Amino acid sequence: MQTILILDHGSQYTQLIARKIREANVYCEIHPYNKIPQITDDVKGIVLSGSPFSVTDSQAPDTDLSVFKGKLPVLGICYGAQYMVHKSNGKVEKSAIREYGRARLVSVNEDCKLLKGVKKDSQVWMSHGDTILQLPENFEIICSTNDVENAGYKIKGEETYAVQFHPEVHHSEFGSTLLKNFVMDICHCDGSWTPKSFVESTVNDLKKKLQNDKVVLGLSGGVDSSVAAMLLHRAIGQNLTCIFVDNGLLRKNEFEDVLESYKNMGLNVIGVNAKNDFYSVLAGVTEPEKKRKAIGKTFIDVFDREANKLKDVKWLGQGTIYPDVIESSSVKGPSQTIKSHHNVGGLPDYMKLQLVEPLRLLFKDEVRRVGKELGLKDELLQRHPFPGPGLAIRILGDITEEKIKILQEVDHIFISSLKEHNLYNKVWQAGAILLPIQSVGVMGDERTYERVVALRAVESVDGMTADWCHLPYEFLAEVSNKIINQVKGVNRVCYDISSKPPATIEWE
Ligand code: XMP
Repeated sequence: MQTILILDHGSQYTQLIARKIREANVYCEIHPYNKIPQITDDVKGIVLSGSPFSVTDSQAPDTDLSVFKGKLPVLGICYGAQYMVHKSNGKVEKSAIREYGRARLVSVNEDCKLLKGVKKDSQVWMSHGDTILQLPENFEIICSTNDVENAGYKIKGEETYAVQFHPEVHHSEFGSTLLKNFVMDICHCDGSWTPKSFVESTVNDLKKKLQNDKVVLGLSGGVDSSVAAMLLHRAIGQNLTCIFVDNGLLRKNEFEDVLESYKNMGLNVIGVNAKNDFYSVLAGVTEPEKKRKAIGKTFIDVFDREANKLKDVKWLGQGTIYPDVIESSSVKGPSQTIKSHHNVGGLPDYMKLQLVEPLRLLFKDEVRRVGKELGLKDELLQRHPFPGPGLAIRILGDITEEKIKILQEVDHIFISSLKEHNLYNKVWQAGAILLPIQSVGVMGDERTYERVVALRAVESVDGMTADWCHLPYEFLAEVSNKIINQVKGVNRVCYDISSKPPATIEWE
């Protein structure tokens, strides 16, 4: 398979490079700069990412260019551009003026293959502390901005190109064009990596790998585990058994509805009612991390109990996706734990199963496209993300069945109203939170002293950052009325207007 390798120097934008290249239907992989994989015939080109380091720092990433430079097409971005200049004895220094944010290309060499279709005066996004002051002899300038003369260059006699701006960032107007030029016209990729080709090749690979073996997979109702199950199902049919656990912390009617749609998809799925296992370990627990850990552990216990009832299972299927894979081998190391995430299908030691992860090469939006290709219903595909610990981390304080019931009703009103008003697909994630306080109100002529709920709806791309949604006031008014009128025990509704960072999406 034609592949572009992206060597990561730790830039915050590295994943964006991969996503932009994949949008051109070209497959690419991110690897740390110091772990360059073997360069096989499939590798058609190399991209050197940006970095938080200056080339002059003692700890600056030191990539071994001799492995590929001059042999394969190379595109250096920001640090990648500066690094190649530095290594060829050009001059890179701290820039005198801030080169951060929007800039315009005042000159563009239109004959350069990299810049075909990139317009003069178009906007680019700069983000660097160093700048290239002088190019080595055999390097030629291909574009400039007002402040940065050497905004881009090509090395004569090589298919090596570089830009100091960030074509992968949305604010670079012709950034996608530039990256597409690189992978299609310079690396000669044919753009044949599509959801359809992904499904075909993955199903074939799974068939070869698994043959007649049996696989067990934990379903969560979310997109990732559902798509992973469908791919496996297509490859091995009834040799796949899925387990869907009702932890009693799901949305209203969710377990029954989702179980039914899994069965309609032909999946061999065992629904397990384990509500009481979860309620008993959660009783009296108020501390968020303790709740998360208790739920994670109980999930594994329940999953094991059920999986052990199956005979001759050799593999555990998981819906792991590419950001998790990159995170675990990142140049920066795994990021600090803000919340311990529990995801379906943790691997208990003693089960000794091998892992099969058919989505480990895909970003979230790609998983959705593959799901669509496989015929997954919109209802499942367009679902908002929902955390593994479920409503437990949306009930602040201790968890009781009564509180779960109240929150399920509130959440149901909020989510179905979003759907009725065609707002559901415009929101990235929404839900309700039950607060551990009561407030005074008045209903009819009577004083009330009841619970407070908060509504949260956010816009986001990947959950890493998020902004609160500016839902229409009329809509919020209607939802608030419905909740207070219909859900016994709630007399006040608030709307969460915090963005992430500094807040997180979930309250716990
Ligand atoms: P935070 O609250 O960290 O959430 O801003 C970011 C995204 O992750 C989801 N989330 C989880 N997903 N297991 C999951 O599968 C978890 O333990 C978990 N905790 C948070 C959250 O709903 C949001 O989409």
